[in-house]
Amino acid sequence: MSTLVINDLHVSVETDQGTKHILKGVDLTLEQGSIHAIMGPNGSGKSTLAYTIAGHPKYHVESGSVKLDGEEVLDMSVDARARAGIFLAMQYPVEIPGVTVSNFLRTAKTAIDGEAPALRPWLKEIRGSMEALRMDKTFAERNVNEGFSGGEKKRHEILQLELLKPRFAVLDETDSGLDVDALKIVSEGVNRAKANTGLGVLLITHYTRILRYIHPDFVHVFVDGRVAEEGGPELADRLENEGYDRYLTGTSVG
Ligand SMILES: Nc1ncnc2c1ncn2[C@@H]1O[C@H](COP(=O)(O)OP(=O)(O)OP(=O)(O)O)[C@@H](O)[C@H]1O
Ligand SMILES: [Mg+2]
Repeated sequence: MSTLVINDLHVSVETDQGTKHILKGVDLTLEQGSIHAIMGPNGSGKSTLAYTIAGHPKYHVESGSVKLDGEEVLDMSVDARARAGIFLAMQYPVEIPGVTVSNFLRTAKTAIDGEAPALRPWLKEIRGSMEALRMDKTFAERNVNEGFSGGEKKRHEILQLELLKPRFAVLDETDSGLDVDALKIVSEGVNRAKANTGLGVLLITHYTRILRYIHPDFVHVFVDGRVAEEGGPELADRLENEGYDRYLTGTSVG
């Protein structure tokens, strides 16, 4: 079983106002087959953590490590990370004009597996996954995310997850902007991926409603660039009731 171990991770970004330190010592261990929810206030660094794991060039790692089965992920190129089985569903998925969903998925699958998938079973698999996610088949011939509604973009992220079969998925607010039916459909997609491939999930969210469908094994409270507390699913309910005030008292200014 694979593990992803984040150890004392410090990350900054260069801004017009100078260097901004965002992650201030993140410690987190994910096991394949388990679901970890991360909840925390706006601007606490959750997306920065997601981007850093995936290898976004804007985020500068000052110190610390991210190890996948003992191997340093931070030394890998972005595509090597994807081949190693790390997947990121972005909070704001980007449009790729001129590239159809169908071409995009096949290219991604080929790059990750090192060989092109056999055509017939692949087309069947795409059709099956799209049906399960209630995506109309016309989406296959549309350009990636171009003109997609918020919810359609999120379903497309989960379609990738199902087809690319990563070992670890970071889902950055995949639940935001989903209507109740879509929330259920997307959650079922994540649960299917977990059941079929033993996926490990880092689920970044603001709302406990998705946790009714995707049951977390652990909940981590993320505040001011680090994990402030960890617990079981009951912690999510407490956060929903009490907010983050109790964690913020030591860090607030004024
Ligand atoms: N590229 C960047 N340039 C400047 N500041 C940045 C950049 N990326 C992140 N930040 C800043 O770092 C902080 C953390 O941002 P991040 O997006 O990681 O927060 P978050 O926890 O995901 O918030 P939210 O819950 O609103 O999605 C914010 O103050 C943000 O403005
Ligand atoms: Mg974010």
